[in-house]
Amino acid sequence: MEYRYIGKSGLRVSPICMGTMSFGTWSDKKAAFKILDTAFDRGINFYDTAEVYPVPPTAELVGLTEKIFGEWIKTKKRDSLIIATKVAGAASGWFVPPIRAGLTAIDRHHIEAAIEGSLQRLGVDYIDLYQVHWPDMVVPIEESMIALDRLVESGKVRYLGTSNENAYGLTKANTVADYEGLARFQSIQNNFSLLSRRFLDELANVCRKEQVSLLPYSPLAGGVLSGKYNQKEMPRNCRFGDYYYDENPRQKAMAARFVNEASLASTARYLQIASAAGMSPVTLATAWSMNFDFVASTIIGARSADQLTETLAALDVKLSDDVLRQCNEVHADILYPMG
Ligand SMILES: NC(=O)c1ccc[n+]([C@@H]2O[C@H](COP(=O)([O-])OP(=O)(O)OC[C@H]3O[C@@H](n4cnc5c(N)ncnc54)[C@H](OP(=O)(O)O)[C@@H]3O)[C@@H](O)[C@H]2O)c1
Repeated sequence: MEYRYIGKSGLRVSPICMGTMSFGTWSDKKAAFKILDTAFDRGINFYDTAEVYPVPPTAELVGLTEKIFGEWIKTKKRDSLIIATKVAGAASGWFVPPIRAGLTAIDRHHIEAAIEGSLQRLGVDYIDLYQVHWPDMVVPIEESMIALDRLVESGKVRYLGTSNENAYGLTKANTVADYEGLARFQSIQNNFSLLSRRFLDELANVCRKEQVSLLPYSPLAGGVLSGKYNQKEMPRNCRFGDYYYDENPRQKAMAARFVNEASLASTARYLQIASAAGMSPVTLATAWSMNFDFVASTIIGARSADQLTETLAALDVKLSDDVLRQCNEVHADILYPMG
């Protein structure tokens, strides 16, 4: 296994990171441990979680994912794991996190409350990569970076990262950090897949120039690229089936963003490309997202350990130029299917 550095940090990670956001909802503790053990036994040393998990976030379950993951951490040597977690971003009309009375902000008070909660639930005394889950449009970036830097100074955090950020936010944060002598963001965790290529428009170049690593999340577009939604009826017992049949408008909107006419038309083409190349579409999609110079590690998800066979197979796959060209043709024909 080739381990890669995150940004300019000392963190060396497997090219696949195991995501945990379903632990406590779609995957119970037993399933979660099996997923984690399967990943670890295959050489995965990098694990991603967040204070607001599991998804969909609720006041009843918030924090449960870190607790389940924390129990599993105890079964391993701490030094053998690179652990990433996140402080919730600012509440907005779209999403009010069910923690700290829904008043979250990327300020010193919330950052310090968040790190203490995560350390306690995970049962560790430091986090390897501490990420801002999504940006705060009100608190000045300078103030956020000073507060985050204090965590690095204190030894509670080794390195910083951000998530769901744009080119302005990433560039401004790291420029401030460089001028003020503060810890900078070494990584950005954004949605990136065959169906979601917006990162290539601008952020890819920021990452290259600034030596910041992308940690792509949702490489299967939440399961869409497996092809399971390419059928007449919305299936059940899968993420977007659960969301589609749910009354919650936020969940319904998520289902419509990921599963729509354009995303299904693109997926149908990727299914053909994968079949002709002799691999599962899940393997194709995972390998595609790992295949960029600015990507350190692709964050995968699983409801059950058996799903990992096809995602982890990407560790042994190098996509040919011909397959990559065919994938680009799909994108040229159906631009930005997820908007
Ligand atoms: N920073 C952020 O805002 C953010 C947002 C999203 C995710 N993330 C991180 O990224 C991780 C991965 O995200 P994701 O779960 O969306 O990634 P993903 O790999 O795109 O989707 C994973 C889902 O696809 C389905 N799936 C997986 N393997 C499959 C297979 N072999 N065959 C058919 N279906 C399969 C499963 O859902 P079903 O079985 O339910 O269909 C699974 O939960 C998360 O755990 C989290 O750590 C971060």
